[in-house]
Amino acid sequence: MTSSQSQPTTTDSGSPVASDEHSLTIGPDGPILLNDHYLIEQMAQFNRERIPERQPHAKGGGAFGTFRVTGDVSAYTRAAVFQPGAQTEMIARFSTVAGERGSPDTWRDPRGFALKFYTSEGNLDLVCNNTPVFFIRDPMKFQHFIRSQKRLAGNNLRDADMQWDFWTLSPESAHQVTWLMGDRGIPRTWRHMNGYSSHTYSWVNASGEQFWVKYHFKCDQGVECLTQDEADRIAGEDGDAHQRDLYDAIERGEYPTWTLKVQIMPFEDAKTYRFNPFDLTKVWPHADYPLHEVGKMELNRNVTDYHAEMEQAAFQPNNLVPGTGLSPDKMLLGRGFSYSDAHRARLGVNYQQIPVNRPHAPVHSYSKDGAMRIENVTDPVYAPNSQGGPKADPARAVYSNYFAVDGEMVQQAYTLRAEDDDYGQANTLINQVMDEGMRERLVHNVAGAAAGVRSDEIRERVYQYWKNIDKAIGDKIEAAIKGHLAQNQSDKGGGRFD
Ligand code: HEM
Repeated sequence: MTSSQSQPTTTDSGSPVASDEHSLTIGPDGPILLNDHYLIEQMAQFNRERIPERQPHAKGGGAFGTFRVTGDVSAYTRAAVFQPGAQTEMIARFSTVAGERGSPDTWRDPRGFALKFYTSEGNLDLVCNNTPVFFIRDPMKFQHFIRSQKRLAGNNLRDADMQWDFWTLSPESAHQVTWLMGDRGIPRTWRHMNGYSSHTYSWVNASGEQFWVKYHFKCDQGVECLTQDEADRIAGEDGDAHQRDLYDAIERGEYPTWTLKVQIMPFEDAKTYRFNPFDLTKVWPHADYPLHEVGKMELNRNVTDYHAEMEQAAFQPNNLVPGTGLSPDKMLLGRGFSYSDAHRARLGVNYQQIPVNRPHAPVHSYSKDGAMRIENVTDPVYAPNSQGGPKADPARAVYSNYFAVDGEMVQQAYTLRAEDDDYGQANTLINQVMDEGMRERLVHNVAGAAAGVRSDEIRERVYQYWKNIDKAIGDKIEAAIKGHLAQNQSDKGGGRFD
């Protein structure tokens, strides 16, 4: 639109303003007047433009898309979104975990892979990562884990001591840290990474039979990763490289796609499987539970207002639809509380009325009032009532999923089974999934990441942590870190003039 075709500027209440450039003054050289409402509105609005960033996963971006069912999993779930032929609008947001809103996209970190499906039965959110496992298995440790990856209280710097102190004192992190320090630790772009629910969720079919499932979004562009050196270079050249890549690809009409596959475990298997299938630090071997194709997700529409549609997007694992559910995974149950609480704090109690979060299915809840309520509430505002208000229908409810529990209240780790150890799957990853080149890069990446550890005690624990995973790799990591330290020492020596 040329300036001669432009709409006249107005205040936020819609009345035309006299100037985009000059404040109202007494004479051109005189003082500014308080009745210049437009100037005051502009200054006040500007001062309130920022909202708190997400606590973890602050830096991210994504796009709208569609999810189309291509397989037939109707024997396992009655969810409308997964029935043959269904097509559902959705939004995806990708992110790093520890960095702030302006931090580089290519820091080594897991990537968030958050999805919201606007299904005919309400919103289904799958708040995934690009890694199939996680660092811890109890939500009590999550807050401490995230703090250890962020910044020191005193000097506001990120800190290798803090990261490795937490990891080496939390041996359950071994699998995820091995994954993170390996080749897949830094995706080439968001279009070149898989997404995993990591957790075990549940599905219920039309006959009420329940199954345990893990979701895998396999990237159809192929998985591609950056080496540490490439990532460091890109971080300096373009901190927003991943956001730009996705945006530009969609603008070019190159729509990235992912194929959703699920691993399905019969309900009874979970009771006797050789390790706890709800332990988030473990994968289920595909030989035991192969992948079943469900459908394809395509991202095909960029947001047009990043703040409204991406910064205000709110994903929560407790957004479930009939035929889907949580599981006894303690982390997942913790997340069931945490996200909606975070949204109420970050966006306000009525965050689900913001258009990007608003379900496409009709909402008949008894929630009422609160800041920024947009939708009108109609009477009756209480239940039970005899006034024709909404009535719960247990037959359609999401929480029909079940698992039997019995016992004393305790604060204890999961009961150990035959193969419930912290290091076994990390060892398998190193020795059966990685080739020699990958193992070398693993050693290089760990040595680079841990070379900044200042405490001798923590450094010793780093060596032992890796030796517990695999003796040979641990020895190489120890030698590589000692090499870095010796090099730093001689560099310092060379630079001294006193
Ligand atoms: C973001 C809590 C574990 C994936 C967040 C946020 C919180 C949180 C509070 C910020 C939400 C917001 O402000 O919008 C937790 C807790 C966890 C946990 C308490 C464990 C007990 C996980 C796990 C995964 C995950 C295991 C993946 C499998 C994500 C993603 C986001 C996120 C993708 C970003 C969502 C977005 O793009 O808006 N988490 N988290 N989190 N978390 Fe977690």
